[in-house]
Amino acid sequence: MERLSASARLMIVSDLDHTMVDHHDSENFSLLRFNALWEANYRHDSLLVFSTGRSPTLYKELRKEKPMLTPDITIMSVGTEITYGHSMEPDEGWVKVLNQKWDKNIVIEEASKFSELTPQAESEQRPHKVSFYTQKDKAQAVTKALSESLEKRGLDVKIIYSGGIDLDILPQGAGKGQALAYLHKKFKSIGKLPNSTLVCGDSGNDAELFSIPDVFGVMVSNAQEELLQWHAENAKNNSKIIHASERCAAGIIQAIGHFNLGPNISLRDVKDFLDSKLETKSIGYEVVKFYLFYEKWRRAEVEESCLDHLKKSFNPSGVFVHPSGLEQSLSDSLRSIQKQYGDSQGKQYRVWVDRVLPTKISSDSWLVKFDKWELSGKEHLCCRTTVILSSKDSNAAGEFVWLHVHQTWLEGSKSELSSTWLF
Ligand code: GLC
Ligand code: MG
Repeated sequence: MERLSASARLMIVSDLDHTMVDHHDSENFSLLRFNALWEANYRHDSLLVFSTGRSPTLYKELRKEKPMLTPDITIMSVGTEITYGHSMEPDEGWVKVLNQKWDKNIVIEEASKFSELTPQAESEQRPHKVSFYTQKDKAQAVTKALSESLEKRGLDVKIIYSGGIDLDILPQGAGKGQALAYLHKKFKSIGKLPNSTLVCGDSGNDAELFSIPDVFGVMVSNAQEELLQWHAENAKNNSKIIHASERCAAGIIQAIGHFNLGPNISLRDVKDFLDSKLETKSIGYEVVKFYLFYEKWRRAEVEESCLDHLKKSFNPSGVFVHPSGLEQSLSDSLRSIQKQYGDSQGKQYRVWVDRVLPTKISSDSWLVKFDKWELSGKEHLCCRTTVILSSKDSNAAGEFVWLHVHQTWLEGSKSELSSTWLF
C-alpha cells in the first residue's frame, strides 16, 4: 500500500479464470496485450488487484501456467484472503473481520447432510471458505435449505454459486465485493482512495464486485449466465457497467477505452511500435517496447533493418552483466542480438516484462527494475533486471539511452539456456 505516494490513477480489480486469463487462448494473446498496456502505461501510478476464487495453492499453479503479471494486491479464496505485494504479506486485520458468526466445523457438519453437495479438493477448503460442487438445477434449493439450517445454528453465512458448478460457503462479511470495500476503506483512511476503480469479472462470485459504490465494471463477453442474470435483476440501469463484446483481457482493455480511464492501446497492437508517436515517452513504455522488439526480432516479425534504430538507443560503452556474472559491452550485446534474428521463428516464444518500476536518480537518468520473462516452448524463465536509462544524450526522437543492464536469475529460472547471451 505504500508503493504509491498519491492516490492510484486507476485501480483494476480483476477476476482471473475466464476474465484476466482465457483458458481457450493457448497463445495468451489478450493477456500479453494487457500486460504490455499495464507495464507501459499504468504500473508506475496505478494498482493492479487480482481477485480470485482460487486458494493460494491453485493461484500459484495458475501463475506457473500463464504469463500473468504480479498484482499489487492479491485477493484469494473468494475474498477471504488478502495479501500485499510480490511477497504476499497477509492482511491480518481482514481475518479478524471474518471470524464473526463463523464456525467452519458447523458449516461442514450441516453441509454433509446434503447429498447434492460434493466436496471440492482439500486445497480449496480454507479457514473462511468451505467449497462444494453441485449441479445447476440443484443449486437454488440447496442454497435456501442450507442457509436456513446454518442460521438455526447461529451462523451468518453467504452462499455463492459460480461457473454453473461451484458452491462456496463464506462468512457473511466475506466475498470479493466486501474485500474490495475493505480495501477502499483502508485507502480512504490514508487519503489515497484510487481516482477510479474498474472491476472485471465473468461469474457468480464476481457479482458483488459490481455493487460496490462508484466503481466502473466490465462483464467480459464470455460471462456466465448467473452473472448476466444477476446484472439483469440488480444493475440493469447502471451505465457504469458494460457487457463487453470482447473476451477476457481484451474485454478489460475495451472497458478502459469505453469509460475513458486512460490509455487503451497496447504496444502489441501497434504495427509500427518502434516509431510510434502514441505516447509521451515513459520509462515503462521504453522497457516494454524494447522487449517487444526483442521477441519480434527473434520471431523474425520485424524487418532486419530495425536494429539500426536500436543502435542509437544503446550507449556503446555501456555494460551488460549477464546472470552468469560475465560482462559484455552493450555494443557486443547488440552484435549477439543481431545473430539471434529469427532463431525462434515458428516456435512458441514470448517475452514480457513485469513489475517495471523506475526511480529517478538524477535530473536525466533513471534506475529501473523489472522482471523479464521468456517463454520458450513450455519453459518460463525469469531474470530480475536492473537498467540505467538516460535522456541526456538521447537521439532526435527524444527517447532514452540504455547505459547499463544487469540481470540475475530469479530462483528456479536457471536452465541450460543460462549460458547463452540472451538479453
Ligand atoms: C475457484 C476455487 C473454487 C471456488 C470457485 C468459485 O475455482 O478454486 O474453490 O469454488 O473458484 O468461487
Ligand atoms: Mg472467473
